[in-house]
Amino acid sequence: MLSNTKAMLSRAQVSKQAVAAFNVYSLETVQAAVSAAEKAGQPVIIALGERYFGTVDVEGFAAMVKAIAAKSGVPVALHLDHAYEKQSVIRAIRSGFTSVMYDGSKFPLEENISITREIVSIAHMVDVAVEAEIGSLARGAFSDEEEGDGTLTDPQSAKQFVEATGVDFLAAAIGTVHGMYTGEPNINIGLLKQIREAVHVPLVLHGGSGTPDEVIRETIRNGICKINVNTEISMAAVSYLKSLHENAKTPHLSDVMSHMQGIMEESMEKFIRLFSE
Ligand code: 13P
Repeated sequence: MLSNTKAMLSRAQVSKQAVAAFNVYSLETVQAAVSAAEKAGQPVIIALGERYFGTVDVEGFAAMVKAIAAKSGVPVALHLDHAYEKQSVIRAIRSGFTSVMYDGSKFPLEENISITREIVSIAHMVDVAVEAEIGSLARGAFSDEEEGDGTLTDPQSAKQFVEATGVDFLAAAIGTVHGMYTGEPNINIGLLKQIREAVHVPLVLHGGSGTPDEVIRETIRNGICKINVNTEISMAAVSYLKSLHENAKTPHLSDVMSHMQGIMEESMEKFIRLFSE
């Protein structure tokens, strides 16, 4: 069933687990995520980034996710990832998304507070939860996210921001990157503990791909309730496409799509199980 993201993350906060949020862009990616969640017996968040609004019919996509969620045996939430435009947030809300991320992290704190507060007041009128980010992630390899400057979250700014805006979840920048790490991952668990002390809403970790399992467990023990994953799923599917090319194979597209769905599902299931141990 389609579920309220806030209720989902409140449960995760109590049980000290994290819900996987997978970036999706097609029917196959959605089916892979829901099927992986059903196999693991856990909830899942379907996340569509504003960056895909140019190629995805947002209203059609939302209708499709709602239909798939209605038949699913596990709770499924529909989330707008990294939106930079107020119009995109409103479009997602009108389409039935259960939560939205407004990313004003490139603005000075006061300006970010003022725009985010307005987004929260609109979204809360229709029971849609809002995620925001303080600090920003650098971009590693194979990601298609926007490049951030890698500024880590300042706990006191995070506290001021959450109190002033009323956001429901906060994305904390603690050293993960969007995409694969090009060097040793350097994740600041001490900083996460300080943010956790300062802020009581569920915390979100962006940049799940390539992050060592033990670090993931440590972040969940210290308050992370939602983990975003994109690049590793894309890489698993693309490496299959490369193997077709290398072996000079020309299968039918329908077989390629269904095989890719299986590969993505396998990778997603591993993440869901790790996040819900
Ligand atoms: P990865 O691509 O590193 O998994 O990060 C995804 C993400 O954080 C989307 O918001």
